[in-house]
Amino acid sequence: MPQKLRCAVIGAGGIARSHILGFRKHASAEVVAIAELSPERRQEAMTNFEIPRGVENYKELLEDKSIDIVSIALPNFLHSQVAVEAINAGKHVLLEKPMATHASEAQKILDALKKKKVVFMVGQNWRFEKEPQIVKDYVTRGELGDVYHARAWWLRPSGIPRIGSWFTQKKFGGGGCGYDIGVHMLDCTLHLMGCFDAVAVSGLTYAKFGPRGLGGGGWGKGEIDPNKPFDVEDYAGALIKLKNGSSVMLEVSWAMQADPTVGYGISLFGTEAGAQINPVKIIRIREGRNEVATPTYQKLALPEDRMVHFMDCVVNGAEPVVKPEQSFKVQRILDAIYESASSGKEVRLD
Ligand SMILES: NC(=O)c1ccc[n+]([C@@H]2O[C@H](COP(=O)([O-])OP(=O)(O)OC[C@H]3O[C@@H](n4cnc5c(N)ncnc54)[C@H](O)[C@@H]3O)[C@@H](O)[C@H]2O)c1
Repeated sequence: MPQKLRCAVIGAGGIARSHILGFRKHASAEVVAIAELSPERRQEAMTNFEIPRGVENYKELLEDKSIDIVSIALPNFLHSQVAVEAINAGKHVLLEKPMATHASEAQKILDALKKKKVVFMVGQNWRFEKEPQIVKDYVTRGELGDVYHARAWWLRPSGIPRIGSWFTQKKFGGGGCGYDIGVHMLDCTLHLMGCFDAVAVSGLTYAKFGPRGLGGGGWGKGEIDPNKPFDVEDYAGALIKLKNGSSVMLEVSWAMQADPTVGYGISLFGTEAGAQINPVKIIRIREGRNEVATPTYQKLALPEDRMVHFMDCVVNGAEPVVKPEQSFKVQRILDAIYESASSGKEVRLD
């Protein structure tokens, strides 16, 4: 049997579990180490997932030549720094979303990738879900015609991750729900539309619940600041105009007086048909006939786990479906939402 690739996970918080389990689904991956500052969370991960080595300082793992791959499951403010160090150390890197806390930080990752030939991917797991894959297939086959507009939303009525943790502090998270869940909806929508080039962004943000200590949802394992600072947004909305003439309306919230059944979804509007996710539907509105159908599919193009796709790319030397340049463009749009919300003006990106 060929030797397995040796993988290390950096960070043992809420999302690390899905990195470890994802690696384990791949026949060529072996999780050999975990880095985590908290001794309790480090030990818990080592025990629960039978990981033989745990370290406090992730740099030890980057210096270890026997480690081929690292996945980064750290708070947002560490993404760019640790990703650049890992790339420079010659590791293949799976980085959690968002790519960084600002496009200027994300640019440092692109620069590092120009100098080292490693596989790098931001773990945009939404693209790998079954429903987006089915819709992408319809778009690619031209079934929707010209997709000229999309709506993407994720309205959590009460889902702020750990108020007072890094998630809700701008200096650590970079932003609030826009960076946290807006990044998923935006990345997946632009992927489905096949265009990541935005020319103009009008954004809105509000912080109506977090500052009052309301709307907590429970995700995350990091420490809480006793002063419970919340200086990010709990709602972000945007109208994004793309270079190809199409547009996206994006709305996400961590906390809002929203009908809990609204949940999340993406609607694509094409000249020949529409498509929706959650639940997946293909909509054809023609004169005198409205048809709403559940789409059929033969086989999904990608595995349903981003870790498995990433491993496939490392093993086969292939380019991941989530390209670093796309993640960079998503980051620029997210930054533009904040800039526009603060200035009250449309931000041009062309
Ligand atoms: N893909 C998804 O759907 C999804 C879901 C949740 C979180 N995330 C992302 O995953 C990342 C981590 O989120 P989380 O929910 O696991 O956060 P978390 O707060 O639960 O865990 C972060 C962990 O990193 C550890 N850490 C901090 N600095 C460290 C360092 N220098 N070295 C080692 N460990 C360190 C903390 O002690 C903590 O255990 C974030 O970027 C977040 O956006 C992605």
